[in-house]
Amino acid sequence: MSTTLIGALERELAERRESGRWRVRRTLASPQGPRAIVDGAPVVAFASNDYLGLANDPAVIDAAREGASRWGAGAGAAHLVCGHQEPHAELERALAEFVAPCAGARALLFSSGYLANLAIVTALVGRGDAVFADRLNHACLNDGALLARADLVRYPHLDAEALAQRLAASRAPRKLIATDAVFSMDGDIAPLARLLELAEAHDAWLVADDAHGFGVRGEGRGSVAAAGLASERIVVMGTLGKAAGVAGAFVAAHPAVIETIVQGARAYVYTTAAPAMLACALAVSLAAIRDGHERRARLAARIAQFRAGAQALRWDLLPSSTPIQPLVVGGDAEAVALSRALLARGVFVPAIRPPTVPEGSARLRISLSAAHEAADVDLLLAALREAEGRAA
Ligand SMILES: Cc1ncc(COP(=O)(O)O)c(C=O)c1O
Repeated sequence: MSTTLIGALERELAERRESGRWRVRRTLASPQGPRAIVDGAPVVAFASNDYLGLANDPAVIDAAREGASRWGAGAGAAHLVCGHQEPHAELERALAEFVAPCAGARALLFSSGYLANLAIVTALVGRGDAVFADRLNHACLNDGALLARADLVRYPHLDAEALAQRLAASRAPRKLIATDAVFSMDGDIAPLARLLELAEAHDAWLVADDAHGFGVRGEGRGSVAAAGLASERIVVMGTLGKAAGVAGAFVAAHPAVIETIVQGARAYVYTTAAPAMLACALAVSLAAIRDGHERRARLAARIAQFRAGAQALRWDLLPSSTPIQPLVVGGDAEAVALSRALLARGVFVPAIRPPTVPEGSARLRISLSAAHEAADVDLLLAALREAEGRAA
């Protein structure tokens, strides 16, 4: 029996391998940073979401170490049992004050952004309700709608007018607009102000997944602050494993939203709290984000430098002002070949293929960091030009 079960899996895996969609994990023998050891070889890496260079920051590491000494290695239980320790509570207060999507907002910690999105969507909508989602949203927002058993209504990327039509046509009792604030594979930005107008006109929630905007945009406060918005119907999800350099995520919203999640969202209730030592590290990283003007200025300079040099390349550089700079190659095999050619030159940039991105739009997802030097970006551009010459 089990031979048949395993045999079926092996056949499916072989088909995947043959289709060119095989995924591999590269192993790093180094911390995150521009200079990494990937599969045993030293590279300059443009792959992680450590946009501010905090993942390997000595002060953040020290705070984690001291946090472990003071609070132990593990949280031991879910927040509602006994896993909620003082560093968690303090970090929630600091995040609420910093992100402040509405007056008197509260914040709630999660151990991942994936769980946070599941919790938000299932807390706010259910069977018969509708989630309106940008077609390029991150998978976990869609998974939240599936888990909530709400109707998932997708609209074309960034197309607020198409969204308006779908909202007007909907009879769902509760409506929720869900969008990446910065799109994870494209680097472009949702029209949050227009989406909020629509949310107001149709009495809908607006969930802004700011996984890639928190720490970077709006003086670090994120994309809602960058757009100058505040509303009781806005729910912000920010991740803490990307620009913040550590791990986990938070939801910031009106206290009634937060309390609804605490009281009943299964993705909050039934999971162990992240270790308090991470909250200690995050307190230091949050301070670095708050005072992070120099880091953000360095990052902006690297983005401008890369875009100026990459415009002339044969591949399609998508319009992005964020650290996510996608170079669309098209075919899966071509994207993988380009990524390998760069790796052979000591430059690590991952190839992203469907289903993570739409068919025919396989790409290099170049991510820039404040920790990159100008010389690193020069090296990347030179390697791309050389690979272009060979491919021509
Ligand atoms: C837009 C977006 N939302 C949510 C997530 C999930 O966050 P986490 O990695 O903390 O689970 C990610 C990336 O992982 C993301 O890119």
